[in-house]
Formats: sequence, C-alpha cells, structure tokens
Amino acid sequence: MNTFAETLIAWQREHGRHGLPWQVDDAYRVWLSEIMLQQTQVDTVLPYYARFLARFPDLPSLAAAPVEDVLTLWSGLGYYARARNLHKCARAVMAQHGGRFPADPAVLAELPGIGRSTAAAISAFSYGTRAAILDGNVKRVLARAFGIDGFPGTKPVENRLWELAESLLPERDVDIYTQAQMDLGATVCTRGRPACTRCPLADRCVALRDGRVGELPTPRPK
Ligand code: ADE
Repeated sequence: MNTFAETLIAWQREHGRHGLPWQVDDAYRVWLSEIMLQQTQVDTVLPYYARFLARFPDLPSLAAAPVEDVLTLWSGLGYYARARNLHKCARAVMAQHGGRFPADPAVLAELPGIGRSTAAAISAFSYGTRAAILDGNVKRVLARAFGIDGFPGTKPVENRLWELAESLLPERDVDIYTQAQMDLGATVCTRGRPACTRCPLADRCVALRDGRVGELPTPRPK
C-alpha cells in the first residue's frame, strides 16, 4: 500500500484545487492568502485577494500604507484582528527581516498573526520546507483516518495530532501534500456528510472501517 502522503499527493494531482491565484512562488502572496483563508472559505476570499493585491502589490507598499487603508480593503471579510496583524507583520518583516519572509517556520511563527500551522503552510508553499500543518481541516482528516479519540481543542489530543502530522510528512512534494490535506478536508472529508466513496483514504480509514465517521473528531465536551 502507498504511504499516506503518497496517496494524498497522487489524489491532489488529479482531484485537488489548482490554478488558485496564490499558488505562486512568492511568499508575500502566499502569506496574504493564508491569512485571508484562516477563517474564510476560498470562494469568499478570491475577490478580496484580487482587490488587495491590486492596491498592495508587494510587501513594501503594504507596510507603507496607513492601517485604515488595510482595514477598508478588509471590510466584509470579518475577524479584523487579522487585518491589523497583517499590517503589523508587513512592517515587522520590513524592519526585522529586510523585506523578505523568513523560510524557517519557527521564525515565521514569531510574527504577528502567524501561528504554527500557518507558518508551516507559508514555508511549505513558498520555499518547499518540510513542515507539518494542523488546521481544523487536517485535525478532522487525521482524527478520522487514524481513529483518534478526544476533543482536538485539548492540549494532549492536539499534541498527539501534531506528532502524527510530523510523522506523516513526505520527503518531497511537501507543497503538494500540504495543499492535498487542505483540499481533502474542504471538499471530501467534510464535517457534515463526508464523501467517503470519493475518498482516497477510504481503504485505510479507521473511522470508516469502524462506522465512526460521524463521531470523529470528538466534539467539544458539553
Ligand atoms: N485554507 C487555508 N489555506 C488554504 C489554501 N492554500 N488553499 C485552500 N484552502 C486553504
């Protein structure tokens, strides 16, 4: 049987999302998209992303702008702390990193608005770094595929999922693998009504085997 990563990479090539405007070799564009996509779906982000890039085509232009202009462009996307942190982060990268996003996920994660998973995604997409992501979609995919019990919002369960995510990383094509996990979680292994008949992991999914897809990941305890 192919490894978990090999299976996802092959699936991504055939069934994943391609041609998204942030699938480029430019850390600024990747970073901007990952911040917008943190709490917002792809279809909603697309027009905001286009307007934002038209007004702020690069990091220096964003860093030089007043924060009010950034908030105006963000208006409608919600979670405005993201816009404030975005602006702070732009200034920090200019001031502390010479205008270039660092490749090391641990260094990226020190910047405003960039947590561990977002740092890994930015680094994998922009620089091909071997780093594991663990957002809500990936937690769900892993909890089901490996039959991991417990609410992922607790530290012990989250730590276990991080360890698992690290252990599954492929040697190569980490960018494709990273996008595969996001796309599988968003389009197949969804929270309600997952499409298990279309899932490339169906033959090894512990939750599917045990009839527990509807129970995993474990919901927040009441
Ligand atoms: N959600 C977070 N990052 C994403 C990406 N790069 N593509 C699709 N959905 C995402």
